[in-house]
Amino acid sequence: MNFDITYAPFGTRPPVTKPSPSFLAEVTEEGMRKLISKHYDSIKESDIYPLFPQDDAEFEQAKLNSSDFFIQICGGPAYFNAHRGAPMMAKRHAPFAITPKARETWLKLYIPLLEELLEQGVSEESVKSFWNYLDIFSIWMTNTPQ
Ligand code: HEM
Repeated sequence: MNFDITYAPFGTRPPVTKPSPSFLAEVTEEGMRKLISKHYDSIKESDIYPLFPQDDAEFEQAKLNSSDFFIQICGGPAYFNAHRGAPMMAKRHAPFAITPKARETWLKLYIPLLEELLEQGVSEESVKSFWNYLDIFSIWMTNTPQ
């Protein structure tokens, strides 16, 4: 499967489609939490780590908040709304200088993790729909030209 990355002009917000609920159904909530935790662990080893909480307890909490969101956006229980309120994702990311390069790094860190899910038998259709969501919605989080 190809993990194509979309490059859009800075400040544009291409239409985004939510991931298919089949992704959550196949991966399960526990699997989603593991996926997000692994993504954050990869972030810790990358050059975008300075954007993220440096305190370990806060970093672990960030994993939980993010996995709440991803479970919710995939059609699962509204954990994020219950714990953090309305998503307003672009607004929540506004305090962090997210450049196109940082977005690309963030996105690429998902590739080996999604490949692992494919190897474990998660369907290509479900993985593709999750990737497409990450690819496009991460453009929306880009708030700093360079
Ligand atoms: C599909 C795109 C993305 C989604 C759905 C997403 C989702 C989230 C969520 C749900 C949170 C927790 C917000 C909260 O609880 O208040 C969060 C926090 C954060 N995200 Fe993203 N994010 C995306 C892209 C990015 C990108 C591209 C970057 C940077 C390269 C980034 C950097 C951060 C940072 C620095 C935080 C704060 C960590 C914390 O203290 O909780 N995000 N993101």
